[in-house]
Amino acid sequence: MAKEVVLSGIRPTGFLHLGNYFGAMRNYVRMQDEYNCYFFVANWHSLTTHPDTKELQTAVHRVIAENIACGLDPEKVALYVQSDVPEIAELYLYLNMLAYKGELEKTTTFKDKARLQPDNINAGLLTYPVLQAADILIHRAVKVPVGKDQEQHLEMARNFAQRFNHRYGDVLPEPQAFNYGGELVKILSLDGNGKMSKSENQLNTLYLADTDDLLRKKIMKAKTDQGPETPNSPKPDYIQNLFTLMRLVSTPDAAQKFEDDFNASSTGNCIIRYGDMKKQLAEDMVTFITPIREKALAIQADKILLSHIIKHGAEKARESASATLTAVRNAIGVNY
Ligand code: TYM
Repeated sequence: MAKEVVLSGIRPTGFLHLGNYFGAMRNYVRMQDEYNCYFFVANWHSLTTHPDTKELQTAVHRVIAENIACGLDPEKVALYVQSDVPEIAELYLYLNMLAYKGELEKTTTFKDKARLQPDNINAGLLTYPVLQAADILIHRAVKVPVGKDQEQHLEMARNFAQRFNHRYGDVLPEPQAFNYGGELVKILSLDGNGKMSKSENQLNTLYLADTDDLLRKKIMKAKTDQGPETPNSPKPDYIQNLFTLMRLVSTPDAAQKFEDDFNASSTGNCIIRYGDMKKQLAEDMVTFITPIREKALAIQADKILLSHIIKHGAEKARESASATLTAVRNAIGVNY
């Protein structure tokens, strides 16, 4: 039986962080043996918010290198750069005829970004979800490993696929967001103000490229409080985030110990020691990130290897993309 097709992408708009890792890349690595995988660097998407391209090539290389350093094998998956696959742009054009101004204007990411860059509300920003749908549908992918922030874009991709199939015949399967745990992941920034992000709030974001000392410093500064007022209290989200990170990088025993301490704590009897918890988390984070950072730096320094990987990835991606585009053109009737 043919393996199911998986696709996901990352914008090269800054340094990759733990949210990218746990929301997306960790799943990529697990999926590469079981599925037919396509993973790419969304450099066209980055132009919607980052028109200055001075850092773009370095950032694209870094995303490729960090993906490999996290365990992705470019021989097992197609690892490519979006702009190397022009078939995506043609599918984007067809899908644009099926996307409505009203729904695009209502998209949360559009509204957020329009607020952040009022002087550059370009058409690419408005049609961002259409390009994302084209990325996915060009390989007829059915599973899309992403973090929680991408849920709405996935729903829109399903709508565009449905409209295409309704109008022109069944060509495009409807993709679903995917995470091995079931629930999609959202890692918060260490001060509890919103999600970790590549370019905002950098002192409260843990990057895969951070040095050991910087990781320790950021974690020791993470927001905590006086402790819970009553035993078995619900956790405020900034505390829950520290527990989530601990569950991801520490041993189950260490995480459980602090969980038990939290649950036994109350006003006047604070058993949980957030300072100790952060120290443990910092050391486990350093152990987790150091080998990734070192491997990524070595790959980034090898331009010949990078260029070979990117070329090989584009060849694999274009083979699948051109097959879909032929089916799409035939369905629409633009095959003269
Ligand atoms: P991007 O580049 O912002 O993020 C890449 C991946 O990381 C996930 N992620 C997070 N997960 C949990 N907690 C966080 N704090 C966090 N921050 C980021 C994102 O959900 C994503 O999976 N629009 C996409 C890129 C894209 C794409 C695609 C993705 C373009 N085309 C097609 C999937 C399929 C984006 O901006 O991701």
